[in-house]
Amino acid sequence: MKTTFQTGDAAAIETELLVVFSTDAATGKDSKPEISLLTGEEALQKAASGVLTTGEFASGSNETVLLHAPAGLKAKRLLVVGLDKQAKAAAHDVRKAAGTAVRLAKPRKLRELAIVLPNTFDAAAVARAAVEGALIADFDPDTYRSDRKDQSIQSLAIVAAEGIDKKAAESGFEEGRIIGESQNFTRTLVNEPGNRMTPTILGQKAAEMAQEFGLKCEVFGAEKLHELKMGAFWSVTQGSDEPPALIVMEYTPENAPADGPVLGLVGKGITFDTGGISIKPSDNMEKMKYDMAGGAAMIGAMRAIAQLKPAVKVISIVTAAENMPSGKAFKPGDVEIAMSGKSIEIINTDAEGRLVLADGLAYARQLGATHLIDAATLTGAVAVALGQINAGVFSNDEDTYEHFAGALAKSGERFWRLPLDEEYREQIRSDIADIKNTGGRYGGAITAAMFLKEFAEDTPWIHLDIASMAWLDDAKAWTAKGPTGVGVRSIVEWVRSYGK
Ligand code: BES
Ligand code: MN
Ligand code: ZN
Repeated sequence: MKTTFQTGDAAAIETELLVVFSTDAATGKDSKPEISLLTGEEALQKAASGVLTTGEFASGSNETVLLHAPAGLKAKRLLVVGLDKQAKAAAHDVRKAAGTAVRLAKPRKLRELAIVLPNTFDAAAVARAAVEGALIADFDPDTYRSDRKDQSIQSLAIVAAEGIDKKAAESGFEEGRIIGESQNFTRTLVNEPGNRMTPTILGQKAAEMAQEFGLKCEVFGAEKLHELKMGAFWSVTQGSDEPPALIVMEYTPENAPADGPVLGLVGKGITFDTGGISIKPSDNMEKMKYDMAGGAAMIGAMRAIAQLKPAVKVISIVTAAENMPSGKAFKPGDVEIAMSGKSIEIINTDAEGRLVLADGLAYARQLGATHLIDAATLTGAVAVALGQINAGVFSNDEDTYEHFAGALAKSGERFWRLPLDEEYREQIRSDIADIKNTGGRYGGAITAAMFLKEFAEDTPWIHLDIASMAWLDDAKAWTAKGPTGVGVRSIVEWVRSYGK
């Protein structure tokens, strides 16, 4: 998708599809809709006035009405997309609504569209949201279908018409383009099946991306794991014929203060999770190709960071491995020594994510990270707790969490904070070792986070359990089903909050 930023009269744009947003100011349940089109352009108001007064369009959230040959406009079609009720509508709603427009255009074989930015919100935020939403909606996961119809949008114009701060809108547009494209990059990685996205291939993809955007990147194999004494990471890789990959990316800006923070981004990169000897049931096991979504989120975030150039140093580590049962596989009851020196009793080989992350976190600290964030499809329990609406977030430090909460306000992603009270530690106490790798049925997402906390030690840290959100089982009006790229936007904003 080619994206351009445009100013001037929307009425004069020759396009297959001109998109404009609306809200409804009616308050009572039974009161007639009072719809306003969110543009100062008279010609657009006129073109839509007919349909807006019939009452057949209520401007509900993501509701659409499509007009052909709109009078007085150069566009072939005019699409009105509803945001939330006027009192509730926010710049975030534009992200979804722009996506809805793209998802409507694709099956109709409309290859170009122009989106008129609403004149009611912060110009930078709304331009960013519109381009992100449109890019995200353009993604479809059917890559290997012989009958794949390439319905991608070829060109998208974001239009800042009269009454909008054009400079702010243009910078928001540019940010949104970078972040939206990076989120889609993450999704393409996550979408790949396990046989085509091995740890080695994930390492290659990261290295190619780093090369393209000027990041430092090194990919290490088993030898390095031994050298660093990464017993926890190594134990997971043991059962597979696929070699592990320890992916290390680095962004070092010239303008960062020498004594400033160093951010460590750690991602779980299990390219396929069978569960190992504690093997998973076959129902839905195919989904476990997305168990590298946390790692892919970090690679996508680094791609955006390399282009947005915040003034803060960032190191990212992705611990990539395949979790397989075999004669060489690690077993329940085994005791492993992690890089930090802590001993771990393995209770369940399916709790492998926390093991690869334990050593990833330790290595990020060794490389000088002063603040840590990790992302992982860590537990089914987080989906039981939060459903496919929110992902889980945990933190051992209030100030660091505040940075993340601020990031959420910008990204529009939904994460819900869960607790890390010391009392939960009891559930992962081992009789034979320092800690065990599972904590029983209750509070599964929390005990997994408690395990990681031991390896973040005294470094301020954020843990994102994205298992509930990394893969969407049903399409939405604004996005396809499949990999979501959740986390990318918030991680990028969290990083930028330290380097602006
Ligand atoms: N990769 C899974 C978690 C997962 C489940 C991700 C469903 C996405 C969808 C993780 O490695 C796992 O197997 N966790 C176990 C932990 C248990 C053994 C303590 C789980 O959630 O069942
Ligand atoms: Mn597992
Ligand atoms: Zn897993």
